[in-house]
Amino acid sequence: MNELTKKRALLIGANGTIGSALAGHMRDQYELYTLSRVDTDYSEASLESITRGYNEMTRGDGRAFSTIICCVGTLHNDVVAPEKRLSQLNAAALAEYYRINTIIPALCLRFFHTLLDKNAPSQFVFLSAMVGSIGDNNLGGWYGYRSSKSALNQIVRTGAIEVKRGNKNASLAVIHPGTTIGPLSKPFASGISKDKYYTPVQSAERILRLTQSITAEQSGCFFNWDGSQIPW
Ligand SMILES: NC(=O)c1ccc[n+]([C@@H]2O[C@H](COP(=O)([O-])OP(=O)(O)OC[C@H]3O[C@@H](n4cnc5c(N)ncnc54)[C@H](OP(=O)(O)O)[C@@H]3O)[C@@H](O)[C@H]2O)c1
Repeated sequence: MNELTKKRALLIGANGTIGSALAGHMRDQYELYTLSRVDTDYSEASLESITRGYNEMTRGDGRAFSTIICCVGTLHNDVVAPEKRLSQLNAAALAEYYRINTIIPALCLRFFHTLLDKNAPSQFVFLSAMVGSIGDNNLGGWYGYRSSKSALNQIVRTGAIEVKRGNKNASLAVIHPGTTIGPLSKPFASGISKDKYYTPVQSAERILRLTQSITAEQSGCFFNWDGSQIPW
């Protein structure tokens, strides 16, 4: 398949563990565009300017984006670590969780949904996390990560309702990728059973297959990697 017969896709957060594995798969199937922290600071000004560039390109050749996947998220970094107790909550860490896990994906949704194909099925999915489910929370802990992913879920669900009004062919969804081997999960690896701990390549294949299968009727859903739905 040459680049002109391939569908167009955008991968956001393309340098992480799952993002890199997805990029490998997606390059075979799509004319792939990628975004990472090296390309953007995810400010509104930067995202607006990137969107303008993509819009000029798609208007020029009439080929909109059929697939957009956002992998941006964090569980631990220099500022945040999953909290075990209420006494560990602090404003700076909560703000960092919300900035990376909720606000950056929300702004990507705001600007990039306009790039989705209106004339053929198109999908825009966000990697969330099972622990973002409020209904499924029986363990507690991880206040910032859980709640920032719950907020992401609500943003995408709400966006799906609005986007459907202007683009009947577009599907938005949040996906739990499955616990995947890499720096994000490494500190917790000892507590994860081997048969539920997947390689980045396994997770990427499943995420891509699931993304491509999501119909407009399923827009606004929260999926597990195997296609089953997770309670909000
Ligand atoms: N791994 C798991 O077991 C697991 C389980 C459940 C959910 N998830 C979710 O799946 C997604 C990918 O996970 P992963 O294992 O691939 O994690 P990862 O290797 O840590 O990658 C995280 C991604 O988020 C972006 N990112 C991180 N900090 C950022 C910041 N300060 N500003 C902007 N972008 C930032 C990075 O983008 P660039 O480096 O490309 O800029 C990177 O692509 C995350 O949303 C995570 O919450 C993962």
